Amino acid sequence: MKLPIYLDYNATTPVDTRVLQEMLPWFSENFGNAASRSHLYGWKAEEAVATARQQVAHLLHANDKEIVFTSGATEANNLALKGVFEALAHKGNHIITIATEHKAILDVCEHLKHLGAEISLLYPDNQGQISLEQIQGAIRPSTILVSAMYANNETGVIFPIRAIGALCQQHQIIFHTDATQAVGKIPIDVQNDHIDLLSLSAHKLYGAKGVGALYINRKNKNLHLVAQMDGGKHERGLRSGTLNVPGIVSLGTACVIAQQEMQSNAQSIALLRDVLENGLLQIPQTSVNGNTQCRLPHVSNIAFGGVDGELLLISLHDIAVSSGSACTSASVLPSHVLKAMGVADQLAYSSIRFSLGKYTTEEEILYTINHVKEVIAKLQQ
Ligand SMILES: Cc1ncc(COP(=O)(O)O)c(C=O)c1O
Repeated sequence: MKLPIYLDYNATTPVDTRVLQEMLPWFSENFGNAASRSHLYGWKAEEAVATARQQVAHLLHANDKEIVFTSGATEANNLALKGVFEALAHKGNHIITIATEHKAILDVCEHLKHLGAEISLLYPDNQGQISLEQIQGAIRPSTILVSAMYANNETGVIFPIRAIGALCQQHQIIFHTDATQAVGKIPIDVQNDHIDLLSLSAHKLYGAKGVGALYINRKNKNLHLVAQMDGGKHERGLRSGTLNVPGIVSLGTACVIAQQEMQSNAQSIALLRDVLENGLLQIPQTSVNGNTQCRLPHVSNIAFGGVDGELLLISLHDIAVSSGSACTSASVLPSHVLKAMGVADQLAYSSIRFSLGKYTTEEEILYTINHVKEVIAKLQQ
């Protein structure tokens, strides 16, 4: 067993070796520019991109014409929110989002505020869950967009996306979801879920870093986007820039594998997650952050009461995990997600996100339980 044990799959995942094999020829052997229309090098690259587009679309139950490749979920979120705000400025300036979103949504909203957007930031309950009534209550005549994540990156809590989508459709409001943590982990059907825009990222599902996509519902005639990257009119003018062919191939392959193995992986990972969680909950003053009924199968966010958060993280040197705090250049702040759920600062500091993946073993989980127990016992002394 290799130490430290990697339990930070929500931060990033290793590239699946099958994905890597598919990627490799597109670096040096077939290195063509997918936009080169006059020779075989370009045609081959273009074909590889077209295949990947179909693979991504298939996983989401979308049409391949509805997929725009980006450099990742951050860019997809930027394109979705800024693109809609700019395109629908004549209709309204009000956007609804949730306080537990990733910074790649919250910071974009902050940016749009300076450009005249009105943002309603909804706070979830103490389980990290949002209700349909809250969203309904925030809708105004000027509301153009609702952005609610599919599943939270820190707690794994899954939002009632289908109901939110239906509500938005009823009010003719564009619905965007940041599904970065959900894609490839749980089934997603953009049509049944009434999703207009969906962001995803390859490196969260065993693909390469620096590539992602935005799904754009072409059936919704009210949906318009202004490109945020101008240039050679790649991706139907919505995202200019030479395509990252190896990365895009990695995303497509990762989607195919995810589709084939999602169910069995989810089952076995959830079993290990539950072993971990039950083991850790034996420690006095521990509790789970977030709703455990509507949760991704591979995430467990645990609050360890009665210990110093900073000391806890430093002492857990045998495991690679993420803490309930975020380091900015100047200071360590408690996680905005846990704070928005009403978790006290002290407890947020001593909360740990365990995110498992398809390479996590039972041996690693048993080791982790013992390691954490020992460390906490020492700290509590
Ligand atoms: C929910 C969520 N959105 C967006 C991102 C950003 O994704 P990327 O690294 O592809 O820009 C992440 C990654 O941490 C995430 O978890």
